[in-house]
Amino acid sequence: MENKQELDWSSLGFGYHPTHYNVRCYWRDGAWGELEVSDSEMITIPMAATSLHYGQEAFEGLKAFRGRDGKVRVFRPEENAARLQSTCRGILMPELPTERFLEAIDRVLELNKDFIPPYESGASLYIRPLLIGLGKQVGIAPANEYLFLVFVTPVGAYFKTGFRPSPMAIMRGYDRAAPLGTGTYKVGGNYAASLKSGVLAHELGYSAVIYLDAKEKLYIDECGPANFFGIRENTYITPKSSSILPSVTNKSLMQLAQDMGLKVEQRPVHVDELATFEEAGACGTAAVISPILRVDDLDEHKQYIISKDGNPGPISTALYERLRAIQYGDYPDEHGWVRLYESL
Ligand code: PLP
Ligand code: COI
Repeated sequence: MENKQELDWSSLGFGYHPTHYNVRCYWRDGAWGELEVSDSEMITIPMAATSLHYGQEAFEGLKAFRGRDGKVRVFRPEENAARLQSTCRGILMPELPTERFLEAIDRVLELNKDFIPPYESGASLYIRPLLIGLGKQVGIAPANEYLFLVFVTPVGAYFKTGFRPSPMAIMRGYDRAAPLGTGTYKVGGNYAASLKSGVLAHELGYSAVIYLDAKEKLYIDECGPANFFGIRENTYITPKSSSILPSVTNKSLMQLAQDMGLKVEQRPVHVDELATFEEAGACGTAAVISPILRVDDLDEHKQYIISKDGNPGPISTALYERLRAIQYGDYPDEHGWVRLYESL
């Protein structure tokens, strides 16, 4: 196990660092068992497990933040529990009750509290719940055994540019999810589908791919591992689509935008609207807000300049600061979003 002393909190990227413990829970004979603690990074899994062959695999992502007051806050974990339940319904896995999900988060934080980065570092502890089919099948069918586990790893910014605007690309040769497929679920297959285009985009100097709807290629879906938003005339505009992940961050930003007096529109966003946005960004747990510098449409050879001066816009900045302040306990938690740990 890695010693936390070896970690330089403020230069952490979004990588995997081993921590002390993870927690696990098995579903067998039709019921979830008790939480178990493990100090091993390894899992043992039958070679005929459905997660390996037929993609019965779901994950979640959320973060714990240590505040200036020393207290630890986890942002909206009930939302992640609910989304995991939705994913389970989507790919026929047993739903994990919210209380058990929260118990696992509490436990894994307690066991790894010295890996929660200090306030000053601006880093956080990424929490990764995973639920996989363990049961053996060769015919295509759901498993009869499952494993839920949660591990944690300290992280910094996901996009190397952090809160600096970065360029993104449209590439119509790749889809991430089909309109009636699994795009609204957090399953590994969606990420497998995005790997090739994501790596290609990075090689070309872009921080992410902006996926368009797979059917018509006319509307913006999302930005790699994050939702999309644009700002125009004091309005926060974000796509409504049947093939994107319902983002907890985006849902929160919609509320914060409203709190700040902006109008909020969640509707199909035509790709041509990119020419009209005063600001735009990618948002998610890992991405937080990653402002968009420009969007290059690599098929139609068009370029949409979003940030004229290369800086994040004022509304994106205000939203970013408000969100981070709530997460770190520097701004009142008016919406009851934070799960607070007084003594971790
Ligand atoms: N979209 C995709 C494809 C993601 O992987 C994520 C990350 O979880 C998001 C959006 C943002 O969702 P959230 O804000 O809940 O992290
Ligand atoms: C997250 O923001 O939690 C994600 O899941 C994005 C990525 C690391 C998969």
